[in-house]
Amino acid sequence: MLFRELNQGKCKSYLLACETTRKASLIDPIREKTDRYLAALAYFGCKLELAIDTHTHADHRSGVFELKEITGAKVVMHRRAPAPHVDIHVQDGQTIDCGELRLRVLATPGHTPDSMSLYADGKVFTGDTLLIRGTGRTDFQGGDPGLQYDSITKKLFVLPDDTLVYPAHDYRGNTQSSIGEEKRLNPRIANLSKTEYMELMAKLGLPLPTKIQEVLQPNQTALDDDRIAFPTVAELNQVRQLNPLEVQSLVNSDSPPLVLDVREPNEYSGELGHIRGSKLIPLKDLASRATELEALKNKHVIAICRAGVRSTTAAAILTSLGFEHVSNLRGGMLEWNEHKLPVER
Ligand SMILES: [Fe+2]
Repeated sequence: MLFRELNQGKCKSYLLACETTRKASLIDPIREKTDRYLAALAYFGCKLELAIDTHTHADHRSGVFELKEITGAKVVMHRRAPAPHVDIHVQDGQTIDCGELRLRVLATPGHTPDSMSLYADGKVFTGDTLLIRGTGRTDFQGGDPGLQYDSITKKLFVLPDDTLVYPAHDYRGNTQSSIGEEKRLNPRIANLSKTEYMELMAKLGLPLPTKIQEVLQPNQTALDDDRIAFPTVAELNQVRQLNPLEVQSLVNSDSPPLVLDVREPNEYSGELGHIRGSKLIPLKDLASRATELEALKNKHVIAICRAGVRSTTAAAILTSLGFEHVSNLRGGMLEWNEHKLPVER
């Protein structure tokens, strides 16, 4: 396996390639370094097959979509990822082939619900789940310290001790570690019980990443348009969240709400299906097409998407446009399907 870390900074991006076929994967590419990746691919005579994000990043713009556009590579993310335009959704235990190279997916939620690690050839790429002598923060973006403890101890620390660890970030100049070393020496988690770990994570009190909204919105929603005023964190937090069963009973009531699906057309007719009678307006078109909903300003509108993140943005946008009664389907069509509620395709 041809292997390089390409950024040489605090954010890490990894190039993995099959030496026989020259097919390559990039893990956690950063948008502003796209040129550097293209140069590296050309230098090594590789063709990019897979652009993989270990999770939805909050501190930098992801490069996967730009790389897809330029090279035709397929974008790979965990099935919980909120962004549209992901080509391959993967889940725990699945393998992805890149030439003769085989990557194994380990779902490791906790930093975010869509966090995953990838194992290949004695190396594990741990995203922001397990860092070198640290762990990823769990205090926003759906983070959960208990889940993260289980991910690290039950999915990563069970790998062979000599497995090399490559995280998505390192702030102290480390370049690699091993599972054995982290099990013994990681001050955040070594020898801690789950309760102790959760207490420690609750006390960290870290500041939010700078420019978090400017980064998260495009990474989560693919919305990248200066003319659209992104909702603030406070506005997003105010969106009323309904669970699938609450939405189902409203849909079946005598005065059903408008169910507004803000995914892309291919998702609407895709594997997760859509709710009968729902109206499709992709999030990127919502601000310009809101006039179509003008007559419904006083009516209950329930926004829906794949994972419930894009639709929370949509709900906040509609509220700011004067819609009085807007809610969101928490967990989106993923959770709707998990409850085995009816869909149309
Ligand atoms: Fe992260």
